[in-house]
Amino acid sequence: MNRSLLFLFAFCIATAQAQSPVSLIPQPASVQPRTGVFSLTKSASIHYNKPEAQGVADMLGLRLNVPTGFGIAARPGKTGTIQLNLTDARQAELGDEGYTLNSSPKGVVITANRPAGLFYGMQTLLQLLPAAIESKTVVKTARTWTLPAVWIVDHPRFGWRGIMLDVSRHFFTKDEVKRYIDQLARLKYNTFHWHLTDDNGWRIEIKSLPKLTEVGAWRVARAGHFGDRAEPKPGEPATYGGFYTQDDIRDVVAYAQARNVTIVPEIDVPGHSMAALAAYPELSCTKAIVSVNPGTSFSDWYGNGTFKMKVENTLNPSDEKVYEFLDKVFTEVAALFPNQYIHVGGDECYKGYWAQDPGCQALMKKLNIRHVEDLQGYFMGRVEKILTAKGKKLLGWDEILEGGISPGATVMSWRGIKGGIEAAKEGHNVVMTPTTFAYLDYNQGEVTIDPPIYATLRTSKSYSYEPVPDGVDAKYILGGQGNLWTEQIPTLRYAEYMTYPRAWALSEVFWSPKEAKSWPDFVKRVETHFDRADVAQINYSKAIYDAIVKTSMNNGKLRLELGSEAPGLDLYYTIDDTMPDSFSTRYNQPIDLPEGPVTLRVITYRNGKPIGHLITLSRDALQKRVGRG
Ligand code: ACM
Repeated sequence: MNRSLLFLFAFCIATAQAQSPVSLIPQPASVQPRTGVFSLTKSASIHYNKPEAQGVADMLGLRLNVPTGFGIAARPGKTGTIQLNLTDARQAELGDEGYTLNSSPKGVVITANRPAGLFYGMQTLLQLLPAAIESKTVVKTARTWTLPAVWIVDHPRFGWRGIMLDVSRHFFTKDEVKRYIDQLARLKYNTFHWHLTDDNGWRIEIKSLPKLTEVGAWRVARAGHFGDRAEPKPGEPATYGGFYTQDDIRDVVAYAQARNVTIVPEIDVPGHSMAALAAYPELSCTKAIVSVNPGTSFSDWYGNGTFKMKVENTLNPSDEKVYEFLDKVFTEVAALFPNQYIHVGGDECYKGYWAQDPGCQALMKKLNIRHVEDLQGYFMGRVEKILTAKGKKLLGWDEILEGGISPGATVMSWRGIKGGIEAAKEGHNVVMTPTTFAYLDYNQGEVTIDPPIYATLRTSKSYSYEPVPDGVDAKYILGGQGNLWTEQIPTLRYAEYMTYPRAWALSEVFWSPKEAKSWPDFVKRVETHFDRADVAQINYSKAIYDAIVKTSMNNGKLRLELGSEAPGLDLYYTIDDTMPDSFSTRYNQPIDLPEGPVTLRVITYRNGKPIGHLITLSRDALQKRVGRG
């Protein structure tokens, strides 16, 4: 190559890099692109102006050095090419978590009031660098590390930006939990709700109640669809499970703290307690010997939202021993988690065993309670007293409103948004986490593609979520949270698949200004983040590229309407039992299916290349969708 060609080649690469778009998730409050790029080289330096900034500076050094191999050390000072500055000049504008980031050809300056803001500025800085920065090993191929010049002013919309992980239905090791928390922190989530106990495993060591983990953390090993599994056989050893020792918990808490993540532990009572009852059966009404549930069907659910437990999984609210037990549990939990909230569950508590129990009936008489449901209010009042004595605040699922709860209790609205509305109107603080927008265990797209789950929630629907309901005073809405229940999620890799990109969408719902949201723009950014996740070895779903198939009846004919979440896709389909490709019929208007045993096959393309899954639906399957939206 002659010299001028070489120059042209280098110029083209530099221009391509200079033009690399700013593609951040969650979208900052304000982004002003400037001209030029900053090139990170071996001679770069990271300086911090105050000792409190050292933690973030060291973390940034590590994040940069692993993929670049530059060996940049963070040092105190004011002249770093990457400069981290703590200030108190912009408290009102930026708050505790906001930051400004100024990148120019000379370097990058991140300014914040608190280390949390610097931490988020660092996440933005890393997202401005090429996807290769996510590599877990040194990138050997020669390359440059440039980021665009830009002026960013950023701060979160909500103070509570959470994700819940259920570690009871399936156990995730301490290191897996840390990995998950680290991923969330990169998206500027600041709350990790740790669902530590349920019918299928008790996962936290309580030293004064050793059987909780000796017995309650283990169940018989079963494969297959959770909820349809076989009962334990008599004498069968319980080999599946695990728990976190108190040292493990302290380790995870410290790891999260370093990433500005608060951990909210959940001890789910008085329902969802079968694992505890397997260890201490004397705490239920019937005192029946139960096993830690391996994923059998033990409840009947009726269409109107009511249900019946075929096996007792509730604590007995009339038994003082239950409160002694809870005092022991919460004493140890309160000492392990520095955060002010303890989540006490309260959801889906079946009252049938209470209704039959003489102790509960006597208690109802004494308290002058007519409905057994109201015993839950009594129970939660007792639990709240225990927490208050330990300096903690009660947080629970929206059922805690039933039977009354003190104004100081915080409510997590999950059964849609009505619980949140009611709670805020009563003056409770609320965290919005409705199934309809925030349940990450639901199918993400076409139900015939992924393993079946009983409901669907597309990323675009999560993205459309507005956490402050109409008519509610926004001051009561602390923020929101996505929930990952893990009945069907046995591995962290699959937990990631179910979490992303919906948790990217929710991060923007909880962090970004409402006005900054744009689905088409978000999809563009999601696509660059797919590339980043590939390098970071984080799993995600590509359901946004699949066809959406809706059906209705039109003059007695079955009508199909096709669409997709990602804009700009071409949909090709067949109804003649051939495999579709880009030479098949391109969808551009609703299809009225002809009579007969017709099967729809549809596939998405972009720029002439297939991009989504092939979806195949028989007439019967299509017919069943009529009226389902
Ligand atoms: C819940 O989903 N049971 C809170």
